[in-house]
Amino acid sequence: MWQTISYVSTANQSLTNAEVNELFKFVKLNNDNQNITGILMYSDGNFFQVLEGKPNLIQDLYKKILLDTRHYNVIKIFDRAITNCSFSEYHSSFKVLGQKYDHKELDHFLEEEKFHNPDNYKNISYLINQFMKLS
Ligand SMILES: Cc1cc2nc3c(=O)[nH]c(=O)nc-3n(C[C@H](O)[C@H](O)[C@H](O)COP(=O)(O)O)c2cc1C
Repeated sequence: MWQTISYVSTANQSLTNAEVNELFKFVKLNNDNQNITGILMYSDGNFFQVLEGKPNLIQDLYKKILLDTRHYNVIKIFDRAITNCSFSEYHSSFKVLGQKYDHKELDHFLEEEKFHNPDNYKNISYLINQFMKLS
């Protein structure tokens, strides 16, 4: 069993683009090392993140993220056990959205959501589309 947590948050206004890039690099390195998969998106002052991995790792990381002063207003979208990680099927790495992003993984994630979580699917796909448009 794996755990997945997703949230949106507001970036601290003092956060510069360089600091966001630093954060992205750090997150990619750290999550790859711990076999945590998912996605982190930043757009127009907001973060959207999906984390997938071992339950204790994901829970501990989420607690740390909640306390991070680089963002606030963290709103959890979902937190549940899963049997398959949506993002590990293509690359077992943490994707950080850059200019050139292969949407395949995100599409796969949304397909899974539609199947397992139809009530949430509409909101999540709307949210992701908003992020994709702006980023
Ligand atoms: C929006 C946002 C997303 C983050 N995502 C991760 C993440 O996926 N993995 C991670 O290791 N740290 C992430 N962090 C950083 C953690 O909050 C924390 O600073 C980091 O894990 C270092 O903690 P430590 O100094 O206790 O090791 C994120 C921070 C922010 C603001």
